[in-house]
Amino acid sequence: MTEKIKYDGNRLFVEEIPAAELAAKYGTPLYVYSSEQIKDNFRRLRKAFGIVPGARILYALKANSNPELLGLISSLGAGADTVSAGEIFLALKAGFPPSSISLAGVGKTDRDIDFALARDIGVIIVESDEELGVISERAAALGRTARILLRINPDVDARTHPHISTGLKENKFGININEAGETVKRALRSKSIDLLGVHSHIGSQVTEHAPFEEAADSIREFVIRIQKEGANIRQIDLGGGIGVRYRNALKHSLLPAERKEEPLIDLNLLAKAIKDRLSFPGCEIAIEPGRYIVAESGVLLTKVLYRKESAGRTFIVVDAGMNDMMRHALYSAYHQIIPVELNDSAYSPADVVGPVCETTDAFALQRELPVLRRGDTLAIMTVGAYGYSISSNYNSRPKPAEILVEKDYARVVRDRETFEDLI
Ligand SMILES: Cc1ncc(COP(=O)(O)O)c(C=O)c1O
Repeated sequence: MTEKIKYDGNRLFVEEIPAAELAAKYGTPLYVYSSEQIKDNFRRLRKAFGIVPGARILYALKANSNPELLGLISSLGAGADTVSAGEIFLALKAGFPPSSISLAGVGKTDRDIDFALARDIGVIIVESDEELGVISERAAALGRTARILLRINPDVDARTHPHISTGLKENKFGININEAGETVKRALRSKSIDLLGVHSHIGSQVTEHAPFEEAADSIREFVIRIQKEGANIRQIDLGGGIGVRYRNALKHSLLPAERKEEPLIDLNLLAKAIKDRLSFPGCEIAIEPGRYIVAESGVLLTKVLYRKESAGRTFIVVDAGMNDMMRHALYSAYHQIIPVELNDSAYSPADVVGPVCETTDAFALQRELPVLRRGDTLAIMTVGAYGYSISSNYNSRPKPAEILVEKDYARVVRDRETFEDLI
């Protein structure tokens, strides 16, 4: 539940600043983040995983790579999980130590690999036998040794949305756990490869413990097997995926309660399960959360442009579109949508849609909403992760500004794009 974005009376606040003031000052659509919420989320993770010897938390940049947010997260002591040379570049600029950075990704280009080797980042995560060959060649050519983890596909059902499930054998990610033996031998033979350990990431927005435990069990067995073949395992990375609660992000007597609230992972239990299964002498354990650290910190403020009744259906047309926040269009993802100023009007179902010329350009279908009029400001909740980072200029729409709030101080951490930026 979002703690730093909340109602005071009937007015929505981001930390100590009314959301309506931010919308009036900076315009809409507008991404606003609470720095305190990010800090709280990170500290909660660090506290829970403190029981795991050698635990490291690598922030998954893909969730939100705003440079100022990265600076904040690196200052908290996180490492960085990246998937491209661009993300390595941003992580280094934000102050993450090179040794704390990992590079994953099923389709790394030679440029990505060379960039990672030249910057001497912590590890490269290998996703196929052929890729191992390429990394080994590139490292030899550059006179370096590539520290690697093998990404294992454990064939575990993360029980999340199929588009964000990554640990099933039919998914493109990692090396099938039953077919990885030859790749391990090859890695151990290569003079330009140092096989540090094993990686796995089963999916995103995971809200149950069992999939993590099943993955950890498979990895444990795999590690024991390859240790017997001579592998010196010094790192295990269990990936990201810890889910957050999108429904009932905020509760208020004037808001309808949302049904099918997501269960939440108990971080202490998860940390214990990981510790029990994956503690090996001299071996660090990493996790790579993205969503958990930033999702609840962000809100997208948008203004109602029109209210439209058509064939018995009500459409609330807002000034944010799927280009600004794709999650509903991509995965039918649920986000709570609330007025920044609550009143006691009656609620009735409406579709909240954007201006983009696609039928999927919507944020909610048949959602219970109060009577809304042109000019009202709405807050789309829990958009700090996979919000701005998946945005685009589709329909030649300049991207929104991003604002970071620290108590009663707000600052622009990314300017609103102008038409010139579209060229
Ligand atoms: C390899 C890897 N690590 C970490 C993450 C972060 O996942 P989440 O934001 O759900 O924690 C992802 C997300 O897709 C990923 O692919």
